[in-house]
Amino acid sequence: MQTLTTEKQHHESRQGEAYAPFSADPNQYDRLFYIESYGCQMNFADSEVVASILQDQGYGATRLPDQADLILLNTCSIREKAEQTVRKRLTEFKQLKREKKGLLIGVLGCMAERLKSKFLEEERLVDLVVGPDAYRTLPQLIDEAGTGQKAVNVLLSRDETYADIAPVRLSSNGVSAFVSIMRGCNNMCSFCVVPFTRGRERSRDNSSILGECSDLFEKGYREVTLLGQNVDSYHYTPASGSNSINFAQLLEQVARISPQLRVRFSTSHPKDITDEVLHTMARFSNICRYIHLPVQSGSTRVLQLMNRTYTREWYKAKVDRILELLPDCGISSDIIAGFCTETEEDHQDTLDIMRYSRYDFSYMFFYSERPGTLAQRRYADDIPETVKKERLQQIVAVQNELSLLSNQQDIGKVFEVLIEGNSKRDDQAWMGRNTQNKVLVFPKTEKILKPGDYVQVKVDACTQATLLGSLVTE
Ligand code: SAH
Ligand code: SF4
Ligand code: F3S
Repeated sequence: MQTLTTEKQHHESRQGEAYAPFSADPNQYDRLFYIESYGCQMNFADSEVVASILQDQGYGATRLPDQADLILLNTCSIREKAEQTVRKRLTEFKQLKREKKGLLIGVLGCMAERLKSKFLEEERLVDLVVGPDAYRTLPQLIDEAGTGQKAVNVLLSRDETYADIAPVRLSSNGVSAFVSIMRGCNNMCSFCVVPFTRGRERSRDNSSILGECSDLFEKGYREVTLLGQNVDSYHYTPASGSNSINFAQLLEQVARISPQLRVRFSTSHPKDITDEVLHTMARFSNICRYIHLPVQSGSTRVLQLMNRTYTREWYKAKVDRILELLPDCGISSDIIAGFCTETEEDHQDTLDIMRYSRYDFSYMFFYSERPGTLAQRRYADDIPETVKKERLQQIVAVQNELSLLSNQQDIGKVFEVLIEGNSKRDDQAWMGRNTQNKVLVFPKTEKILKPGDYVQVKVDACTQATLLGSLVTE
Protein backbone atom coordinates (compact mmCIF):
# COMPACT_ATOMS: atom_id res chain seq x y z
CA MET A 1 0.00 0.00 0.00
CA GLN A 2 1.14 3.55 -0.69
CA THR A 3 1.99 5.76 2.21
CA LEU A 4 -0.88 8.03 3.04
CA THR A 5 -0.38 11.63 3.86
CA THR A 6 -0.94 12.21 7.52
CA GLU A 7 -1.92 15.33 9.41
CA LYS A 8 1.69 15.75 10.37
CA GLN A 9 2.53 16.58 6.81
CA HIS A 10 -0.56 18.55 6.09
CA HIS A 11 -0.09 21.46 3.75
CA GLU A 12 3.65 21.25 3.68
CA SER A 13 5.60 18.23 2.66
CA ARG A 14 8.71 19.84 4.09
CA GLN A 15 7.47 19.84 7.62
CA GLY A 16 8.69 16.88 9.55
CA GLU A 17 7.21 14.89 12.37
CA ALA A 18 6.56 17.87 14.64
CA TYR A 19 9.58 19.98 14.99
CA ALA A 20 11.91 20.92 17.67
CA PRO A 21 13.41 24.34 17.12
CA PHE A 22 16.97 25.60 17.15
CA SER A 23 18.94 25.03 20.31
CA ALA A 24 19.79 28.06 22.33
CA ASP A 25 22.99 28.24 24.29
CA PRO A 26 21.75 26.87 27.65
CA ASN A 27 24.06 29.27 29.49
CA GLN A 28 22.52 32.30 27.86
CA TYR A 29 19.03 31.79 29.28
CA ASP A 30 17.78 31.06 32.78
CA ARG A 31 15.08 28.76 31.49
CA LEU A 32 14.59 26.65 28.38
CA PHE A 33 11.46 25.58 26.53
CA TYR A 34 10.87 22.78 24.07
CA ILE A 35 7.95 22.96 21.64
CA GLU A 36 6.55 20.38 19.26
CA SER A 37 3.86 21.21 16.70
CA TYR A 38 1.23 19.07 15.02
CA GLY A 39 -1.46 19.78 12.46
CA CYS A 40 -1.69 22.46 9.84
CA GLN A 41 0.76 25.15 8.91
CA MET A 42 -1.23 27.65 10.95
CA ASN A 43 -0.37 25.73 14.09
CA PHE A 44 3.29 25.79 13.11
CA ALA A 45 3.02 29.54 12.60
CA ASP A 46 1.38 29.90 16.01
CA SER A 47 4.30 28.07 17.63
CA GLU A 48 6.54 30.81 16.25
CA VAL A 49 4.33 33.41 17.96
CA VAL A 50 4.52 31.40 21.19
CA ALA A 51 8.33 31.24 20.87
CA SER A 52 8.40 35.02 20.54
CA ILE A 53 6.25 35.51 23.65
CA LEU A 54 8.45 33.10 25.63
CA GLN A 55 11.67 34.67 24.42
CA ASP A 56 10.48 38.01 25.77
CA GLN A 57 10.17 36.29 29.13
CA GLY A 58 13.78 35.10 29.04
CA TYR A 59 13.10 31.60 27.77
CA GLY A 60 15.48 30.05 25.24
CA ALA A 61 14.42 27.27 22.86
CA THR A 62 15.97 23.85 22.98
CA ARG A 63 15.75 20.82 20.73
CA LEU A 64 16.20 18.46 23.62
CA PRO A 65 13.13 17.81 25.77
CA ASP A 66 15.26 16.56 28.66
CA GLN A 67 17.02 19.95 28.86
CA ALA A 68 13.75 21.87 29.04
CA ASP A 69 12.02 23.49 32.03
CA LEU A 70 8.85 23.81 29.96
CA ILE A 71 7.58 21.31 27.38
CA LEU A 72 4.81 22.45 25.06
CA LEU A 73 2.80 20.43 22.57
CA ASN A 74 0.89 22.51 20.02
CA THR A 75 -1.86 20.09 19.12
CA CYS A 76 -4.35 19.26 16.35
CA SER A 77 -7.87 17.83 16.57
CA ILE A 78 -8.71 17.48 12.91
CA ARG A 79 -8.85 13.68 12.99
CA GLU A 80 -8.98 11.14 15.80
CA LYS A 81 -5.52 9.91 14.86
CA ALA A 82 -4.00 13.36 15.35
CA GLU A 83 -5.26 13.38 18.91
CA GLN A 84 -4.01 9.86 19.58
CA THR A 85 -0.53 10.85 18.45
CA VAL A 86 -0.47 13.67 20.99
CA ARG A 87 -1.69 11.46 23.83
CA LYS A 88 1.00 8.93 23.02
CA ARG A 89 3.62 11.64 23.00
CA LEU A 90 2.41 12.89 26.38
CA THR A 91 2.91 9.50 27.98
CA GLU A 92 6.47 9.54 26.68
CA PHE A 93 7.08 12.67 28.76
CA LYS A 94 5.87 10.99 31.96
CA GLN A 95 9.31 9.72 32.87
CA LEU A 96 10.90 13.15 32.37
CA LYS A 97 8.30 14.70 34.61
CA ARG A 98 9.10 12.19 37.33
CA GLU A 99 12.82 12.80 37.05
CA LYS A 100 12.79 16.57 36.90
CA LYS A 101 11.19 18.52 39.68
CA GLY A 102 9.53 21.70 38.51
CA LEU A 103 9.25 20.62 34.86
CA LEU A 104 6.03 22.04 33.42
CA ILE A 105 4.10 20.39 30.60
CA GLY A 106 1.64 22.42 28.56
CA VAL A 107 -0.86 21.59 25.86
CA LEU A 108 -1.60 24.32 23.33
CA GLY A 109 -3.70 24.56 20.18
CA CYS A 110 -6.82 22.87 18.97
CA MET A 111 -6.92 19.87 21.29
CA ALA A 112 -6.54 22.23 24.26
CA GLU A 113 -9.46 24.24 22.95
CA ARG A 114 -11.62 21.20 22.27
CA LEU A 115 -11.09 19.46 25.59
CA LYS A 116 -10.55 22.49 27.84
CA SER A 117 -10.11 21.63 31.52
CA LYS A 118 -11.27 18.06 30.79
CA PHE A 119 -7.73 17.57 29.55
CA LEU A 120 -6.42 18.00 33.08
CA GLU A 121 -8.64 15.22 34.34
CA GLU A 122 -7.71 12.93 31.47
CA GLU A 123 -3.98 13.57 31.41
CA ARG A 124 -2.77 14.17 34.92
CA LEU A 125 0.76 15.15 34.02
CA VAL A 126 -0.41 18.23 32.11
CA ASP A 127 0.05 21.53 33.98
CA LEU A 128 -1.14 24.06 31.41
CA VAL A 129 -3.96 24.05 28.87
CA VAL A 130 -3.92 27.03 26.53
CA GLY A 131 -6.21 27.63 23.56
CA PRO A 132 -5.12 29.26 20.27
CA ASP A 133 -6.32 32.77 21.16
CA ALA A 134 -4.83 32.86 24.67
CA TYR A 135 -1.07 32.76 24.01
CA ARG A 136 -0.52 36.31 25.23
CA THR A 137 -1.44 35.10 28.72
CA LEU A 138 1.19 32.33 28.68
CA PRO A 139 3.60 34.20 31.02
CA GLN A 140 0.93 34.51 33.74
CA LEU A 141 -0.25 30.94 33.19
CA ILE A 142 3.30 29.63 33.51
CA ASP A 143 3.73 31.54 36.78
CA GLU A 144 0.47 30.14 38.05
CA ALA A 145 1.43 26.59 37.09
CA GLY A 146 4.81 27.14 38.74
CA THR A 147 3.06 27.47 42.08
CA GLY A 148 1.57 24.03 41.65
CA GLN A 149 -1.86 25.04 40.42
CA LYS A 150 -3.20 23.85 37.12
CA ALA A 151 -3.51 26.76 34.66
CA VAL A 152 -6.14 26.96 31.93
CA ASN A 153 -7.08 29.66 29.42
CA VAL A 154 -9.17 28.58 26.47
CA LEU A 155 -11.06 31.80 25.79
CA LEU A 156 -11.61 32.38 22.11
CA SER A 157 -11.42 35.91 20.81
CA ARG A 158 -13.20 37.84 18.07
CA ASP A 159 -10.24 40.06 17.31
CA GLU A 160 -6.95 38.45 18.36
CA THR A 161 -4.57 38.13 15.37
CA TYR A 162 -1.20 38.49 17.16
CA ALA A 163 -0.57 41.16 14.54
CA ASP A 164 2.11 42.98 16.53
CA ILE A 165 4.11 39.90 17.55
CA ALA A 166 7.14 39.20 15.38
CA PRO A 167 7.31 35.40 15.12
CA VAL A 168 10.61 33.73 15.99
CA ARG A 169 11.38 31.61 12.93
CA LEU A 170 11.89 28.12 14.29
CA SER A 171 13.52 25.45 12.09
CA SER A 172 13.30 27.67 8.99
CA ASN A 173 15.34 27.15 5.84
CA GLY A 174 15.89 30.92 5.64
CA VAL A 175 14.25 31.01 2.19
CA SER A 176 10.53 30.49 2.65
CA ALA A 177 8.30 31.54 5.52
CA PHE A 178 4.65 31.27 6.49
CA VAL A 179 2.72 34.39 7.38
CA SER A 180 -0.71 34.21 9.05
CA ILE A 181 -3.15 36.66 7.50
CA MET A 182 -6.28 35.59 9.35
CA ARG A 183 -7.52 33.30 12.09
CA GLY A 184 -10.61 31.19 12.70
CA CYS A 185 -13.22 30.02 10.22
CA ASN A 186 -16.85 30.97 9.63
CA ASN A 187 -17.64 28.09 7.32
CA MET A 188 -19.43 25.23 8.86
CA CYS A 189 -18.28 22.24 6.86
CA SER A 190 -20.18 19.53 8.68
CA PHE A 191 -17.18 17.20 9.16
CA CYS A 192 -14.84 19.85 10.52
CA VAL A 193 -13.79 20.71 14.06
CA VAL A 194 -11.85 23.87 13.14
CA PRO A 195 -14.68 26.41 13.65
CA PHE A 196 -15.00 25.06 17.20
CA THR A 197 -11.30 25.05 18.01
CA ARG A 198 -10.30 28.26 16.27
CA GLY A 199 -13.37 30.42 16.68
CA ARG A 200 -14.75 33.17 14.47
CA GLU A 201 -12.94 34.35 11.41
CA ARG A 202 -10.95 37.58 11.70
CA SER A 203 -8.43 39.20 9.39
CA ARG A 204 -5.08 40.63 10.35
CA ASP A 205 -4.15 44.26 9.75
CA ASN A 206 -2.69 44.45 6.22
CA SER A 207 0.04 46.86 7.27
CA SER A 208 1.40 44.37 9.81
CA ILE A 209 1.30 41.63 7.15
CA LEU A 210 3.20 43.85 4.72
CA GLY A 211 5.66 44.81 7.44
CA GLU A 212 6.35 41.16 8.26
CA CYS A 213 6.77 40.19 4.59
CA SER A 214 9.10 43.13 3.83
CA ASP A 215 11.15 42.30 6.87
CA LEU A 216 11.46 38.68 5.75
CA PHE A 217 12.56 39.82 2.30
CA GLU A 218 15.21 42.09 3.79
CA LYS A 219 16.48 39.16 5.87
CA GLY A 220 17.03 37.16 2.69
CA TYR A 221 13.77 35.21 2.49
CA ARG A 222 12.51 34.80 -1.07
CA GLU A 223 9.10 33.19 -0.58
CA VAL A 224 6.14 33.88 1.68
CA THR A 225 3.02 31.75 2.01
CA LEU A 226 -0.01 33.69 3.23
CA LEU A 227 -1.97 31.45 5.57
CA GLY A 228 -5.62 31.20 6.54
CA GLN A 229 -8.31 28.50 6.65
CA ASN A 230 -10.09 30.39 3.91
CA VAL A 231 -7.82 33.10 2.53
CA ASP A 232 -10.31 34.29 -0.08
CA SER A 233 -12.53 35.73 2.59
CA TYR A 234 -9.72 37.96 3.89
CA HIS A 235 -11.26 41.35 4.60
CA TYR A 236 -9.65 44.12 6.60
CA THR A 237 -10.90 47.63 7.23
CA PRO A 238 -8.11 49.93 8.41
CA ALA A 239 -9.02 52.03 11.44
CA SER A 240 -8.21 55.21 9.53
CA GLY A 241 -11.53 54.76 7.77
CA SER A 242 -9.94 54.18 4.37
CA ASN A 243 -11.43 51.56 2.11
CA SER A 244 -11.43 47.94 3.16
CA ILE A 245 -8.96 45.52 1.62
CA ASN A 246 -9.88 42.17 0.15
CA PHE A 247 -7.65 39.18 -0.58
CA ALA A 248 -6.88 40.15 -4.19
CA GLN A 249 -5.74 43.57 -3.02
CA LEU A 250 -3.64 42.11 -0.22
CA LEU A 251 -1.99 39.71 -2.69
CA GLU A 252 -1.11 42.61 -4.95
CA GLN A 253 0.36 44.62 -2.07
CA VAL A 254 2.55 41.69 -1.00
CA ALA A 255 3.57 40.95 -4.60
CA ARG A 256 4.71 44.56 -5.01
CA ILE A 257 7.29 44.24 -2.21
CA SER A 258 9.73 42.84 -4.78
CA PRO A 259 9.57 40.83 -8.01
CA GLN A 260 12.20 38.66 -6.31
CA LEU A 261 9.76 37.64 -3.57
CA ARG A 262 7.53 34.71 -4.45
CA VAL A 263 4.05 34.83 -2.99
CA ARG A 264 1.95 31.74 -2.26
CA PHE A 265 -1.25 31.28 -0.30
CA SER A 266 -3.30 28.54 1.30
CA THR A 267 -6.14 27.56 1.60
CA SER A 268 -8.68 28.63 -1.00
CA HIS A 269 -12.26 27.55 -0.52
CA PRO A 270 -13.66 26.82 -4.00
CA LYS A 271 -16.78 28.84 -3.21
CA ASP A 272 -14.80 32.00 -2.43
CA ILE A 273 -11.90 32.25 -4.87
CA THR A 274 -12.78 35.12 -7.20
CA ASP A 275 -11.89 36.15 -10.73
CA GLU A 276 -10.28 39.20 -9.19
CA VAL A 277 -7.79 36.93 -7.38
CA LEU A 278 -7.10 34.99 -10.58
CA HIS A 279 -6.59 38.21 -12.58
CA THR A 280 -4.23 39.52 -9.91
CA MET A 281 -2.25 36.27 -10.09
CA ALA A 282 -2.05 36.63 -13.88
CA ARG A 283 -0.67 40.17 -13.58
CA PHE A 284 2.20 39.29 -11.25
CA SER A 285 4.66 36.61 -12.27
CA ASN A 286 5.94 36.38 -8.68
CA ILE A 287 2.51 35.23 -7.42
CA CYS A 288 2.97 31.50 -7.81
CA ARG A 289 0.95 29.53 -10.33
CA TYR A 290 -0.43 27.15 -7.79
CA ILE A 291 -3.80 26.87 -6.04
CA HIS A 292 -4.75 24.47 -3.31
CA LEU A 293 -8.44 23.98 -3.97
CA PRO A 294 -9.81 21.24 -1.69
CA VAL A 295 -12.73 19.41 -3.29
CA GLN A 296 -13.46 16.97 -0.38
CA SER A 297 -15.88 14.92 -2.52
CA GLY A 298 -16.91 14.71 -6.16
CA SER A 299 -20.55 13.96 -5.43
CA THR A 300 -23.01 16.85 -5.25
CA ARG A 301 -25.16 14.93 -2.78
CA VAL A 302 -22.23 14.34 -0.42
CA LEU A 303 -20.98 17.91 -0.87
CA GLN A 304 -24.37 19.07 0.26
CA LEU A 305 -24.22 16.92 3.39
CA MET A 306 -20.73 18.27 3.99
CA ASN A 307 -22.14 21.79 3.74
CA ARG A 308 -19.48 22.79 1.24
CA THR A 309 -22.06 24.98 -0.61
CA TYR A 310 -20.88 24.11 -4.14
CA THR A 311 -21.89 21.37 -6.54
CA ARG A 312 -19.76 19.06 -8.60
CA GLU A 313 -20.48 21.13 -11.72
CA TRP A 314 -19.67 24.39 -9.97
CA TYR A 315 -16.31 23.01 -8.83
CA LYS A 316 -15.48 21.78 -12.33
CA ALA A 317 -16.36 25.20 -13.76
CA LYS A 318 -14.00 26.77 -11.19
CA VAL A 319 -11.17 24.49 -12.35
CA ASP A 320 -11.95 25.46 -15.98
CA ARG A 321 -11.89 29.13 -15.08
CA ILE A 322 -8.53 28.84 -13.28
CA LEU A 323 -6.97 27.13 -16.27
CA GLU A 324 -8.54 29.62 -18.68
CA LEU A 325 -6.97 32.58 -16.89
CA LEU A 326 -3.81 30.79 -15.71
CA PRO A 327 -3.12 27.99 -18.21
CA ASP A 328 0.02 26.78 -16.43
CA CYS A 329 -1.48 26.79 -12.92
CA GLY A 330 -0.89 23.77 -10.68
CA ILE A 331 -3.90 22.61 -8.68
CA SER A 332 -3.96 20.39 -5.61
CA SER A 333 -6.73 19.14 -3.37
CA ASP A 334 -7.90 17.61 -0.09
CA ILE A 335 -10.16 14.59 -0.33
CA ILE A 336 -12.18 12.72 2.27
CA ALA A 337 -13.12 9.07 1.66
CA GLY A 338 -16.14 7.46 3.27
CA PHE A 339 -18.11 10.42 4.57
CA CYS A 340 -21.54 9.58 6.04
CA THR A 341 -23.88 7.81 3.56
CA GLU A 342 -21.27 7.80 0.77
CA THR A 343 -22.27 5.20 -1.85
CA GLU A 344 -20.04 3.45 -4.35
CA GLU A 345 -21.43 5.81 -6.97
CA ASP A 346 -20.53 8.89 -4.88
CA HIS A 347 -17.04 7.46 -4.51
CA GLN A 348 -16.75 6.98 -8.28
CA ASP A 349 -17.76 10.64 -8.67
CA THR A 350 -14.79 11.57 -6.47
CA LEU A 351 -12.37 9.52 -8.60
CA ASP A 352 -13.90 11.12 -11.67
CA ILE A 353 -13.54 14.71 -10.47
CA MET A 354 -9.91 14.01 -9.54
CA ARG A 355 -9.24 12.93 -13.13
CA TYR A 356 -11.16 15.93 -14.46
CA SER A 357 -9.17 18.37 -12.30
CA ARG A 358 -5.88 16.55 -12.95
CA TYR A 359 -4.53 17.36 -9.51
CA ASP A 360 -0.76 17.52 -9.25
CA PHE A 361 -1.05 16.52 -5.65
CA SER A 362 -3.67 15.72 -2.99
CA TYR A 363 -3.92 15.26 0.74
CA MET A 364 -6.17 12.25 1.22
CA PHE A 365 -7.94 11.10 4.36
CA PHE A 366 -10.67 8.77 5.42
CA TYR A 367 -13.51 10.34 7.35
CA SER A 368 -12.98 10.57 11.08
CA GLU A 369 -16.02 11.62 13.09
CA ARG A 370 -15.30 14.57 15.38
CA PRO A 371 -17.31 15.24 18.54
CA GLY A 372 -19.54 18.30 18.40
CA THR A 373 -19.45 18.77 14.63
CA LEU A 374 -22.65 19.07 12.59
CA ALA A 375 -22.01 15.69 10.97
CA GLN A 376 -21.58 13.99 14.33
CA ARG A 377 -24.87 15.44 15.56
CA ARG A 378 -26.86 14.88 12.38
CA TYR A 379 -25.58 11.85 10.52
CA ALA A 380 -24.51 8.35 11.37
CA ASP A 381 -20.85 7.53 10.68
CA ASP A 382 -22.14 4.56 8.69
CA ILE A 383 -19.37 3.57 6.30
CA PRO A 384 -17.44 0.59 7.68
CA GLU A 385 -13.77 1.27 8.24
CA THR A 386 -12.72 -1.41 5.77
CA VAL A 387 -14.76 0.30 3.04
CA LYS A 388 -13.36 3.73 3.96
CA LYS A 389 -9.84 2.37 3.72
CA GLU A 390 -10.50 0.57 0.45
CA ARG A 391 -11.90 3.73 -1.09
CA LEU A 392 -9.02 5.76 0.25
CA GLN A 393 -6.58 3.36 -1.35
CA GLN A 394 -8.31 3.79 -4.68
CA ILE A 395 -8.17 7.57 -4.29
CA VAL A 396 -4.46 7.36 -3.50
CA ALA A 397 -3.89 5.13 -6.52
CA VAL A 398 -5.62 7.60 -8.84
CA GLN A 399 -3.65 10.49 -7.36
CA ASN A 400 -0.39 8.60 -7.85
CA GLU A 401 -1.26 8.10 -11.52
CA LEU A 402 -2.15 11.77 -11.91
CA SER A 403 0.99 12.99 -10.15
CA LEU A 404 3.21 10.82 -12.31
CA LEU A 405 1.42 11.89 -15.48
CA SER A 406 1.68 15.55 -14.56
CA ASN A 407 5.40 15.18 -13.84
CA GLN A 408 6.01 13.25 -17.07
CA GLN A 409 4.47 16.12 -19.01
CA ASP A 410 7.14 18.42 -17.59
CA ILE A 411 10.04 16.43 -19.02
CA GLY A 412 11.96 18.65 -21.45
CA LYS A 413 10.59 21.89 -19.96
CA VAL A 414 12.75 24.56 -18.34
CA PHE A 415 11.56 26.07 -15.04
CA GLU A 416 12.69 28.89 -12.84
CA VAL A 417 13.55 27.25 -9.52
CA LEU A 418 14.05 28.87 -6.13
CA ILE A 419 16.77 26.91 -4.34
CA GLU A 420 15.76 25.89 -0.82
CA GLY A 421 18.75 23.79 0.19
CA ASN A 422 20.52 20.50 -0.35
CA SER A 423 18.56 17.56 -1.64
CA LYS A 424 17.62 15.36 1.30
CA ARG A 425 19.13 12.28 -0.30
CA ASP A 426 22.24 13.76 -1.84
CA ASP A 427 24.21 16.76 -0.64
CA GLN A 428 25.80 16.99 -4.07
CA ALA A 429 22.40 18.07 -5.44
CA TRP A 430 20.21 21.12 -4.85
CA MET A 431 16.51 21.01 -4.09
CA GLY A 432 14.05 23.76 -4.95
CA ARG A 433 10.56 24.40 -6.28
CA ASN A 434 9.07 25.82 -9.43
CA THR A 435 6.15 28.23 -9.43
CA GLN A 436 3.71 25.28 -9.54
CA ASN A 437 5.12 24.13 -6.19
CA LYS A 438 6.73 21.03 -7.68
CA VAL A 439 9.97 19.86 -6.14
CA LEU A 440 12.99 19.82 -8.46
CA VAL A 441 16.31 18.16 -7.68
CA PHE A 442 19.40 18.83 -9.78
CA PRO A 443 23.14 18.14 -9.40
CA LYS A 444 25.41 20.88 -8.17
CA THR A 445 27.94 22.19 -10.70
CA GLU A 446 31.03 24.36 -10.31
CA LYS A 447 28.69 27.37 -10.40
CA ILE A 448 28.53 28.87 -6.90
CA LEU A 449 24.94 28.95 -5.71
CA LYS A 450 23.15 29.21 -2.40
CA PRO A 451 19.67 28.75 -0.95
CA GLY A 452 17.54 31.72 -2.01
CA ASP A 453 19.03 31.89 -5.53
CA TYR A 454 16.82 31.60 -8.59
CA VAL A 455 18.09 29.30 -11.36
CA GLN A 456 16.81 27.85 -14.62
CA VAL A 457 16.51 24.07 -14.53
CA LYS A 458 15.67 21.70 -17.37
CA VAL A 459 13.68 18.62 -16.44
CA ASP A 460 15.30 15.40 -17.70
CA ALA A 461 13.36 12.75 -15.79
CA CYS A 462 10.89 12.35 -12.96
CA THR A 463 9.44 10.20 -10.25
CA GLN A 464 5.90 10.52 -8.99
CA ALA A 465 6.99 13.05 -6.37
CA THR A 466 10.00 14.83 -7.86
CA LEU A 467 11.28 16.36 -11.09
CA LEU A 468 14.92 15.52 -11.77
CA GLY A 469 16.79 18.07 -13.83
CA SER A 470 19.97 19.85 -14.73
CA LEU A 471 21.08 23.43 -14.45
CA VAL A 472 20.70 25.47 -17.63
CA THR A 473 23.90 27.41 -18.18
CA GLU A 474 23.63 30.65 -20.10
N1 SAH B 1 -9.72 25.17 5.61
C1 SAH B 1 -9.30 24.14 4.77
C2 SAH B 1 -9.12 22.81 5.43
C3 SAH B 1 -8.59 22.68 6.78
S1 SAH B 1 -8.58 21.06 7.46
C4 SAH B 1 -10.35 23.96 3.70
O1 SAH B 1 -11.49 24.33 3.85
O2 SAH B 1 -10.03 23.38 2.71
C5 SAH B 1 -7.63 20.18 6.27
C6 SAH B 1 -8.31 19.03 5.66
O3 SAH B 1 -8.54 18.01 6.60
C7 SAH B 1 -9.67 19.31 5.07
O4 SAH B 1 -9.60 19.92 3.83
C8 SAH B 1 -10.28 17.93 5.00
O5 SAH B 1 -9.96 17.29 3.79
C9 SAH B 1 -9.60 17.20 6.15
N2 SAH B 1 -10.54 16.95 7.25
C10 SAH B 1 -11.16 17.87 8.00
N3 SAH B 1 -11.97 17.27 8.90
C11 SAH B 1 -11.87 15.93 8.69
C12 SAH B 1 -12.47 14.79 9.28
N4 SAH B 1 -13.36 14.90 10.25
N5 SAH B 1 -12.12 13.57 8.81
C13 SAH B 1 -11.21 13.45 7.82
N6 SAH B 1 -10.62 14.49 7.22
C14 SAH B 1 -10.94 15.73 7.65
FE1 SF4 C 1 -13.00 23.34 8.23
FE2 SF4 C 1 -14.52 24.02 6.19
FE3 SF4 C 1 -13.42 25.92 7.71
FE4 SF4 C 1 -11.91 24.46 6.08
S1 SF4 C 1 -13.52 25.88 5.46
S2 SF4 C 1 -11.48 24.96 8.21
S3 SF4 C 1 -12.87 22.46 6.16
S4 SF4 C 1 -14.98 24.43 8.33
FE1 F3S D 1 -5.55 20.80 13.25
FE2 F3S D 1 -6.37 22.97 14.40
FE3 F3S D 1 -5.02 23.12 12.16
S1 F3S D 1 -7.50 21.09 14.23
S2 F3S D 1 -5.57 21.23 11.12
S3 F3S D 1 -4.25 22.35 14.06
S4 F3S D 1 -6.64 24.46 12.80
